[in-house]
Amino acid sequence: MSTSKVVLITGGNKGIGLETARQLGKLGFTILLGSRDAARGQEATAALTAENINAKAITLDITNLDTIQSAVKQVDDQYGALDVLINNAGVCLESGLPPSQHELTILRNTYETNVFGSFSVTKAMLPLIKKSPAGRIVNLSSGLASLTEYNIPESDAEKYGLNLLAYMSSKTAVNALTVLFAKELKDTPIKINSADPGYTATDLNGHTGYRTVEQGASIVVKLATLPSDGPNGGFFDENGVIPW
Ligand SMILES: NC(=O)c1ccc[n+]([C@@H]2O[C@H](COP(=O)([O-])OP(=O)(O)OC[C@H]3O[C@@H](n4cnc5c(N)ncnc54)[C@H](OP(=O)(O)O)[C@@H]3O)[C@@H](O)[C@H]2O)c1
Repeated sequence: MSTSKVVLITGGNKGIGLETARQLGKLGFTILLGSRDAARGQEATAALTAENINAKAITLDITNLDTIQSAVKQVDDQYGALDVLINNAGVCLESGLPPSQHELTILRNTYETNVFGSFSVTKAMLPLIKKSPAGRIVNLSSGLASLTEYNIPESDAEKYGLNLLAYMSSKTAVNALTVLFAKELKDTPIKINSADPGYTATDLNGHTGYRTVEQGASIVVKLATLPSDGPNGGFFDENGVIPW
């Protein structure tokens, strides 16, 4: 059994997930690096190991229940509990067409990963998280999920101009998962919160983001390491609470 805290990060092989793994690894966490592609997971884990981080790759496609169950078994067999789950894996599949021109398949596929995948991993890992004395769950949301900030005419004009139906609404649904799981878990030590990393340069946006992965991962790390009197069921970026 490991004596350090164990964190599972989905989609940990690159981008914000990999940087989150690096930052938590440097804090002494044992990193379970979820990756849907085994080779990409091994490569990323080797890079962390070279930085003296205790990291292990786990093959995990969050849309595939078999790989989720296999990941649960591996964590249970090797650690018996999970201290932190970071639902980081996500996709943005659309090209900017207005909602009326969206193909249903784009919505379905986006929700399959961002919403149903995150739900499935959370549900499957929860019994192990309940075995931790202070379980933490971080859902990677987005500022674009905020109905208040991006989706009413009174919001900032630049923000109001964005209209990515599948991605934005999927992250609003992720926020609903956060709130409703938090309600269920309110009488336990577990804390679940949504994180907005900000517009971060990664493959997700063709590296158009103006923030670094180091900056993006900082709020994720903060929510993963909340003290016992920290918030539950909230939505945060590095500056504090984001309106729903
Ligand atoms: N970048 C931003 O500006 C920004 C802003 C707000 C929120 N976010 C959120 O932050 C999270 C990380 O995004 P990122 O910017 O770091 O993007 P990224 O570099 O594209 O990384 C996304 C990760 O998710 C993985 N993934 C996608 N589908 C998966 C599946 N079905 N099963 C397992 N893993 C899967 C990818 O794996 P592969 O390598 O195999 O594709 C990759 O590891 C996402 O949830 C995103 O929505 C990003």
